[in-house]
Amino acid sequence: MGSKRKKIAIIGGDGIGPSVTHEAKLLLEIYRDKAGLPLDLWELDLGADRYLRDGVTFPKEIQIAVQRECAAVLLGALGDPRVPGLEHARDILFGMRFGYDLYANVRPVKALSDRLVPLKGRGAKDVDMVVFRENTEGVYVGMGGQFKRGTPDEVAINEDLNTRKGVERIVRAAFEFAKRTGRKRVCMADKSNAMRHAHELWLRVFDEVRREYPEIESRHLYVDALCLLVIQDPTQFEVLVMNNLFGDIVTDLGAALQGGLGMAASANVHASDPTRVAMFEPVHGSAPPLAGKDIANPFAALLTVGMMLTHLGWPDEEKRIERAVAAAIEEKACTVDVGGTLGTRAAAAWVRERIAKEL
Ligand code: NAD
Ligand code: IPM
Ligand code: MN
Repeated sequence: MGSKRKKIAIIGGDGIGPSVTHEAKLLLEIYRDKAGLPLDLWELDLGADRYLRDGVTFPKEIQIAVQRECAAVLLGALGDPRVPGLEHARDILFGMRFGYDLYANVRPVKALSDRLVPLKGRGAKDVDMVVFRENTEGVYVGMGGQFKRGTPDEVAINEDLNTRKGVERIVRAAFEFAKRTGRKRVCMADKSNAMRHAHELWLRVFDEVRREYPEIESRHLYVDALCLLVIQDPTQFEVLVMNNLFGDIVTDLGAALQGGLGMAASANVHASDPTRVAMFEPVHGSAPPLAGKDIANPFAALLTVGMMLTHLGWPDEEKRIERAVAAAIEEKACTVDVGGTLGTRAAAAWVRERIAKEL
């Protein structure tokens, strides 16, 4: 991608977000200072602390500046018990996902070590799929309302919004990704047996789009059956595509196959125009009980840097980061959730040192 400088906005956020993001930032600094990657890092003070201090969530001018100036955003996590309504989290997270139209939430479910795969008789080679989660529609749009709130007659509604354009572009992104990366199977999961209107659209669009990719084996499953089969035999899946809510749920399930949420990375992209700003974040949340204790696993955040570097044009570096994280897991140079004894900082430093030696 040439040597034009790439500006990266960094938002640590809440809970464990700032500490794992700090470790990820130190990795980016190694790439900038030692490998000479043309990166400019821009730290933004956004999250619950800022919101509680001065009421600011995601100012319009910041949203626009990031969109204009940045190639990518690195986000930690948002969610703080002091803000039970999560209004700042929604403004920031959805402000980027919806605001930048990052319609593909790409979440690899890839195990890096046999030791981390919890299924009997299975190893890392058996868990390697990528979930394409629709990221701009579904129940996440917030359409709905409450009526007669707090009374026995209360009504609460969240609409599941699905557009032809929205469904088609995420399904196509999944097939294009499979084609580009040599994957042979795409599976779409919905709940069209119960959600007759909205998910019949998914079924119909999937059926149309898959005809354009005859070389790729396509399959439809109801999402409940998918949850069963992904645990019984994960080897049958390579690329999965589904709506916003199901993608959220299935990728936490998938994280369990990778060794937990501390190992799961993700990218939010406008898949048909990769020159637009993209946002990268671990799948995990702010894990409030772990905050400030130096025990959160930083590897999901480091692997997320890998996805960002691939997006920016340096795919070999994602592989290098994966190898270093896999080595740390093998050597038990990792946090307790993945069987080690190190803290957040020491585990991340181990991986960075290994990478720095190779650069
Ligand atoms: P969570 O992902 O924060 O935690 C779920 C479980 O995984 C907990 O047991 C936690 O200890 C563990 N865990 C998560 N990350 C870990 C890590 N790096 N290392 C070790 N263990 C880890 O989900 P939750 O508890 O449901 O949510 C907490 C808050 O985070 C909520 O406010 C939620 O809305 C928010 N959240 C934000 C994002 C995001 O910003 N993208 C994602 C998920 C949840
Ligand atoms: C995620 C999170 C978010 C989501 C929450 C915090 C709204 O769970 O990124 O996976 O549901 O998308
Ligand atoms: Mn989630």
